[in-house]
Amino acid sequence: MAFHHVSVLLNECLENFVRDPDGIYVDCTLGGAGHAHAIGERLSAKGHLLGFDQDQTARQVAAERLSDLACQVTIIPSNFKNLKDELSKRQISGVTAFLFDLGVSSYQLDTPERGFSYMHDGPLDMRMDQSNPLTAEEIVNTYSEADLTRLIKEYGEERWAKRIAQFICKRREEEPLRRTGQLVELIKQAIPAGARKDGPHPAKRTFQALRIEVNQELAILAQSFRDAVDFLKPGGRIGVITFQSLEDRIAKQTFKELSTGCICPPELPVCVCGHKALVKARNKAIEPTEAEVKANPRARSARLRIAEKL
Ligand SMILES: C[S@@+](CC[C@H](N)C(=O)[O-])C[C@H]1O[C@@H](n2cnc3c(N)ncnc32)[C@H](O)[C@@H]1O
Repeated sequence: MAFHHVSVLLNECLENFVRDPDGIYVDCTLGGAGHAHAIGERLSAKGHLLGFDQDQTARQVAAERLSDLACQVTIIPSNFKNLKDELSKRQISGVTAFLFDLGVSSYQLDTPERGFSYMHDGPLDMRMDQSNPLTAEEIVNTYSEADLTRLIKEYGEERWAKRIAQFICKRREEEPLRRTGQLVELIKQAIPAGARKDGPHPAKRTFQALRIEVNQELAILAQSFRDAVDFLKPGGRIGVITFQSLEDRIAKQTFKELSTGCICPPELPVCVCGHKALVKARNKAIEPTEAEVKANPRARSARLRIAEKL
């Protein structure tokens, strides 16, 4: 299958980030390299584009796509949670902009063998990093009912989490769950028909929850954003594109924390905390235009948050 992914909020990213053709740019989520290529095209031979992806296939595609650029290109085969070590060992500092375009690519989603999609039958995999030992199959067949309930509720914001977990645990007593199709059927049985009439696909939330657990997507975000800010030069920017409220909340809260100065109790006459604001952040996220959503319905829930290093 050809690697197909339409980059979201692309113009908004270019307008906000690419302001120095000789600068250092880090794309933490290369995917199909759509954003990365558009950034790289605007850089001079002195400019440097670095890109992370934990997915081997994405890195191969990105390397090929970026091969026609004039700027320096470095592909880093790692999770962006390691950005501090990976950039330090390459003596990178004074970064002009970081971009995080979170979640999975359309290619990952549309490849049934990767197991991310409730629309195609495939193995219960969901690993972005194919060397990660934990799969969705392991989770649905070994986690306790209480743990399944907690994760489907917390990471999927699914009100039927308890019933879905009960159905999973009952079914696996007969045979282990191995396919996304089996899980989708089970979820449909667990959620009462009336509650399935409206809204998104009934398996959407549970699949989101499993994917977050398999890839430990949320736990690494806040620290990765803080680390990125440490590498920015004054005036440099960090941008985070999210597709669901849990990620967006983390980006919003982390930027708020990083843009707050003194955090001493108001009754203290002088500051004793020494806390300094590192960035200024816009309060409001940038959303896709109607035209973008029409052309690419997957952009609908996208939000771009930006902070600038002081
Ligand atoms: C939404 S896609 C990026 C699409 C890209 N911006 C484009 O325009 O083609 C997200 C990519 O980031 C990767 N990814 C997600 N979380 C990651 C992490 N923690 N570390 C490294 N790569 C990650 C995924 O494997 C996927 O390829």
